[in-house]
Amino acid sequence: MLNFEGKVAFVAGAGSVGEGWGNGKATAVLLARQGARVCGVDLQAEALASTTAIMQAEGLADRWLPLTCDMTASDQVASVVDECVAKFGRIDVLVNNVGGSAPGDPVSMPEDVWQKQLDFNLTTAFLGCKHVLPVMERQFEADGKGGAIVNIGSVGAMTFQLGGRVSAGYAAAKAGLVAFSRSTAIAYVRKGIRVNTVIPGSMHTPLVEHRLVKQLGASDAEQLIARRHAAVPMGRMGDAWDVAHAVAFLASDEAGYITATQLVVDGGMTAARSA
Ligand SMILES: NC(=O)c1ccc[n+]([C@@H]2O[C@H](COP(=O)([O-])OP(=O)(O)OC[C@H]3O[C@@H](n4cnc5c(N)ncnc54)[C@H](O)[C@@H]3O)[C@@H](O)[C@H]2O)c1
Repeated sequence: MLNFEGKVAFVAGAGSVGEGWGNGKATAVLLARQGARVCGVDLQAEALASTTAIMQAEGLADRWLPLTCDMTASDQVASVVDECVAKFGRIDVLVNNVGGSAPGDPVSMPEDVWQKQLDFNLTTAFLGCKHVLPVMERQFEADGKGGAIVNIGSVGAMTFQLGGRVSAGYAAAKAGLVAFSRSTAIAYVRKGIRVNTVIPGSMHTPLVEHRLVKQLGASDAEQLIARRHAAVPMGRMGDAWDVAHAVAFLASDEAGYITATQLVVDGGMTAARSA
């Protein structure tokens, strides 16, 4: 088991849109189970409350700090980062997990939706890095331990099926996130800070029932879920734990020589589509 004893993690988007396990919620709980003290932030107080209930049930409440925050608002991000450092003393791991897709191509997508997609999927990670990198840099100067940042991308920036649903804003933002992660990684490579991206494929998180079913107008959620399972070479969607374990690996000391790269967690989907 990867050991996060003595480490502090900041997980942005640590709730989930509905009951069950979202990627950020599973990541926050996994890191706490493996020894980290975790500050989890989310826009929705109720979403955070559900993660808090799990932390309490598992006896992890003493290493859990839930804070509401809009990750698109710089002053709010600065303030929760300060609160995390005030409570736990440092930040070793930053997970930028906030994001989600809206459908549309340049003509069908209203301009405000385009802008919101960029803010939701890209600016949130920019602001997380903006306010946490100086903390990590100070740590590196003080004790030689900088930190690890893991951003959550999507295969939605890499695979496009003819006749399939187009989410141009999401694809652009998540592709931009990879470039952002790689350039930030190189900027901080001599400062003890690693930056990588986990790229989930089709995952069965509460988002599928809560957002996609509505967006796609699928009258039958079961049909949509069956189609999503069938579209993966492994024959099934992944889940939030698949993402959480990939994040934990990239955040761990065992991944100490890995930076500026992407870990695709998609049951073979991108390889099959590009073959
Ligand atoms: N579920 C999938 O199939 C899938 C596939 C590829 C990538 N991803 C990516 O994984 C990430 C998480 O997905 P999920 O399925 O767990 O989604 P989710 O919506 O269940 O979880 C995201 C959390 O972020 C919070 N949030 C939304 N806006 C916020 C803001 N401005 N500030 C702070 N918190 C905010 C939400 O309240 C929610 O609790 C996203 O970046 C998504 O693009 C998901």
